[in-house]
Amino acid sequence: MAGFSKDLGIDLGTMFTRIADGTQIIVDEPTIVAIEVADQKMVAVGKEARDMYGRVPDTIEVARPLQNGVIADYEITETLLHVFLKRTSGLIRIFKPNVMISVPYGVTSVESRAVHEAVLQAGAREAYLIQQPLAAALGVDLPINSPSGNMVICLGGGSTQAAVLAMYGIVTAETLRAGGMQLDEAIVTYVRRKYGVIISEVTAEQLKIKIGAAVPQDTEQSMEVQGQDQVTGLPRPVTLTTSEMVEALQEPLKQIAETCRRVLEKTPPELVSDIIDRGMALTGGGALLRGIDKLLTKTLGIPAYLVDNPLTCVAEGAAKALPMYPHLRRSLPPV
Ligand SMILES: Nc1ncnc2c1ncn2[C@@H]1O[C@H](COP(=O)(O)OP(=O)(O)OP(=O)(O)O)[C@@H](O)[C@H]1O
Ligand SMILES: [Mg+2]
Repeated sequence: MAGFSKDLGIDLGTMFTRIADGTQIIVDEPTIVAIEVADQKMVAVGKEARDMYGRVPDTIEVARPLQNGVIADYEITETLLHVFLKRTSGLIRIFKPNVMISVPYGVTSVESRAVHEAVLQAGAREAYLIQQPLAAALGVDLPINSPSGNMVICLGGGSTQAAVLAMYGIVTAETLRAGGMQLDEAIVTYVRRKYGVIISEVTAEQLKIKIGAAVPQDTEQSMEVQGQDQVTGLPRPVTLTTSEMVEALQEPLKQIAETCRRVLEKTPPELVSDIIDRGMALTGGGALLRGIDKLLTKTLGIPAYLVDNPLTCVAEGAAKALPMYPHLRRSLPPV
């Protein structure tokens, strides 16, 4: 029977959940659910739930069950995983999958046990946990089976994880419980302070993605967005530029760079010299911010580069880790 089971890699992220079957991504959905408040019945999951955000009556709650990479609402997470797993196989009751699921580096044993339990309850036959930076490193094919140093930075929506890896394991690492969402909040604050206009976090994220950058750009872009006048409460449009985005993002980006610096400071010099040669791999949605590679290269003095599959590498690496279990076993979090 086990021969019919799928091996799946799951990246349970604050903003997105991605499931890989080998190198194929079969689920890529926002980690969001819509629930009927009165009876706690689920109305929608993933993209469908996200589209309801800010557009539903009080009787329906649209919620993210994860915060900063860890489960904030256990029941909802379990339901969400169940729905997504069912999509990978209509026959989940008969052909339960074996699952490798990512957790942020440095979570508590209570937090990681919750993930393990949730995915088993959601329909997995066997479940193993893997730290997100280790999965990301496998997903971008870093040679972590050797004694040389490799560095990966996961720039997620709710967390930033920087890690140095060698010999199938994490040598030094740190997690900052802040990520892309904090960049969006910084844009909201900037626009309110400078123009007296309140914009939503969704609008701030659009600004960041369309015209945002971590360092000044040769071509300046601008974008008009709708906000609400802080004093009159009336709708008011405001136009923002790329240089304003760079200014707005400086503080949270500094925190991200500091996290990477602290990891490098704790790393043995032999491994640091390997990293200087090979560079550090930037993964996660935040790696797509224009110029973040340049900013980190400049502030840390070590070349940083964007990987080919920043959004999917954690799920792909987790799927890859399943058959490597005998080698990885000692490095994986206990449950
Ligand atoms: N082009 C882009 N420029 C800047 N930021 C981007 C871009 N595309 C996506 N992002 C940001 O990437 C983040 C989502 O990344 P990702 O899917 O890796 O997060 P996650 O895995 O759900 O979160 P975490 O790993 O922290 O739990 C969001 O904050 C989003 O705004
Ligand atoms: Mg992630």
